[in-house]
Amino acid sequence: MTQDELKKATAEAALERILPHLEDDMIIGIGTGSTANFFIDALADHKTKFDGCVASSEASAERLKGHGIPVYDLNSVSSLRFYIDGADETNEHLHLIKGGGAALTREKIVAAVADEFICIADGSKKVDVLGEFPLPVEVIPMARSYVARELVKLGGDPAYREGVMTDNGNVILDVWNMQIIDPVATEEAINQIVGVVTNGLFAARPANVLLLGTEEGVKTIT
Ligand code: A5P
Repeated sequence: MTQDELKKATAEAALERILPHLEDDMIIGIGTGSTANFFIDALADHKTKFDGCVASSEASAERLKGHGIPVYDLNSVSSLRFYIDGADETNEHLHLIKGGGAALTREKIVAAVADEFICIADGSKKVDVLGEFPLPVEVIPMARSYVARELVKLGGDPAYREGVMTDNGNVILDVWNMQIIDPVATEEAINQIVGVVTNGLFAARPANVLLLGTEEGVKTIT
């Protein structure tokens, strides 16, 4: 199977997982990226079975609206039963690296609100130690150089993602060469740097369920 076929299979598995729980007044949190896009497209066939969605990016909001699915502001929502999103890397503890699509901050906010974070990813995303994928860090623009110097002190090799502005008007530093042995501690340490909005480690709030697309089928890891 191609990587896209594996992503689509995990998206469809996520849909099967939530379908029995959908209710007329339910609002669903939706992530960003190609795997999340497969989920949005599959969810559209069932849009009469729930109220609408909260999106973690303008791109996902536009895709949802294109399918005629209402998109709500998170501030008008008191709870989210599910959040479904992809990942750039995951370890066996369901600690994730996210933000390859620069949507990490909104993704982390929506995930924080959700009761259950279902991560959908193809098998290539599963690693023993996080950090081969460069860790995205969203930074207030005027702090970019300062934050980069602080990230070097933490052992990383930050690179400015040129030409990219987040939906929040900030910039991204991608941190290479981090062997992230303790994801919770690293997430906290980077977030302590003044000027960092957040970083792409989802360790303090990991996924609850990982649906991993493999040649042998979609594996459910909790
Ligand atoms: C978006 O900022 C990311 O966190 C995505 O969830 C992540 O990059 C996964 O993307 P794909 O589903 O396109 O692989």
